[in-house]
Amino acid sequence: MKIQLGPSDILFPIPSALIVSGSFEKPNIITIAWIGIMGSLPPVVGISLKKSRYSLDSIRNAKEFTVNIPSADKFKEVDYCGIVSGRKRDKFIDINFTPLRSAKIDAPIIKECPFNMECVVIKEVELGEWVLFLGEIVETYVDEDKINISNKNKIDIAKVNPLVYCATVREYWELGNKLGDGFHAGKEILNKLKRENSSSVDE
Ligand SMILES: Cc1cc2nc3c(=O)[nH]c(=O)nc-3n(C[C@H](O)[C@H](O)[C@H](O)COP(=O)(O)O)c2cc1C
Repeated sequence: MKIQLGPSDILFPIPSALIVSGSFEKPNIITIAWIGIMGSLPPVVGISLKKSRYSLDSIRNAKEFTVNIPSADKFKEVDYCGIVSGRKRDKFIDINFTPLRSAKIDAPIIKECPFNMECVVIKEVELGEWVLFLGEIVETYVDEDKINISNKNKIDIAKVNPLVYCATVREYWELGNKLGDGFHAGKEILNKLKRENSSSVDE
């Protein structure tokens, strides 16, 4: 039996990212769970902010922001940035995080987060009390020690250990084990169907 939940914003798991806006001298951090990649060429990320957020105006005015992906061990700092406003506090100082100069925009990235993106706002969409910003990703960074040299210089997800958030239950989690490879694991099913139906299965 399925229980109908009605219209809802439930989706899990999702990242819990730290978005930095403002200048290098006066940056602010907001925790954002409503985030996702929306396109690849050009690479575009979408973030959604409630209109009451202090960060909204600085993103609107400067038309830029950085996305910073924290490791799971930083979940308390992430939560702090999601319950305290930059109107009242300097969150960088409060959680002892370090702003680093971005290469292409004014808003800094966060040293303590292993993966970072610089983004330029290309579109703004009002969704009731929320504003969706689409940001073109103009630069990305990963910590040197999170690269797997023996595996084609791929990002080592186990070393990044990205924080996972489950909205609706409002819980922070870590990733479990790797199960398989993307664009590959499904081939076992595809090949079995191909063997059974010989010609009628399209890739
Ligand atoms: C886990 C988590 C996820 C959040 N996700 C969002 C979000 O996607 N959009 C949003 O507007 N606020 C979100 N918030 C709330 C803001 O982070 C919070 O209101 C913050 O204090 C606003 O900071 P600011 O006033 O300095 O901009 C989230 C909070 C938490 C704890």
